[in-house]
Amino acid sequence: MAWYDVFSAFYDASLERHYREQRVQATAALDLQPGSVVLDLPCGTGQSLPGLCAGVGPSGRVLGVDLSAGMLRQAQRRVERGGLTGVTLARADAATLDLSALGGAPPDRLHIFLGMSVFPNPAATFEHLWSLLAPGGRCVIVDCHAETLSFQGRMVNLLAGADIRRRSWAPLEAVGVAFERRALPSLPLHGGQLFLATALKP
Ligand SMILES: C[S@@+](CC[C@H](N)C(=O)[O-])C[C@H]1O[C@@H](n2cnc3c(N)ncnc32)[C@H](O)[C@@H]1O
Repeated sequence: MAWYDVFSAFYDASLERHYREQRVQATAALDLQPGSVVLDLPCGTGQSLPGLCAGVGPSGRVLGVDLSAGMLRQAQRRVERGGLTGVTLARADAATLDLSALGGAPPDRLHIFLGMSVFPNPAATFEHLWSLLAPGGRCVIVDCHAETLSFQGRMVNLLAGADIRRRSWAPLEAVGVAFERRALPSLPLHGGQLFLATALKP
């Protein structure tokens, strides 16, 4: 994940403000309860961590996992700066993540924000992450989709190492119950339509 190690140096400065509102909506859609355990993957530089920590409260836990050591370093700084508690950060590949190494209760919330368009094998990776979610747990996916790529869409794919032509909600729609998908506010700079998809694990 060498590119994201480099990108981590300017990721927040270039992108944080453009996803703020969508991040708030994703956290709200998780329906966090005091004591919830959230798997935030990929956690990137930890932009979602403050909202997730507030949602789970002091008795909850947030597991932030990412493949890039550089992104995780930024996330660790954010945790320290914000005095966030109940956060465990770990470096792992989403496709093979072994949660037993992190200890604690299995996650009852799965938050995949701008990950499904980036994972090299999204279907298999989602299947693995879904297997880690406790029965009855909720998954929220936020990502970008463009059926055909504009110039900006190509730029987003290039910069993020993404493929926004993927229908990134489809793996969740196939296995979740009470599936819902809605459009999120999107700007031309996002390269396509941002969406939020959510469902429960039976
Ligand atoms: C566009 S960023 C999104 C980060 C964060 N969720 C956010 O909203 O800012 C994509 C992230 O996916 C991570 N990533 C890519 N492939 C991964 C994998 N196989 N396992 C874990 N993380 C991965 C990258 O390191 C990067 O931090």
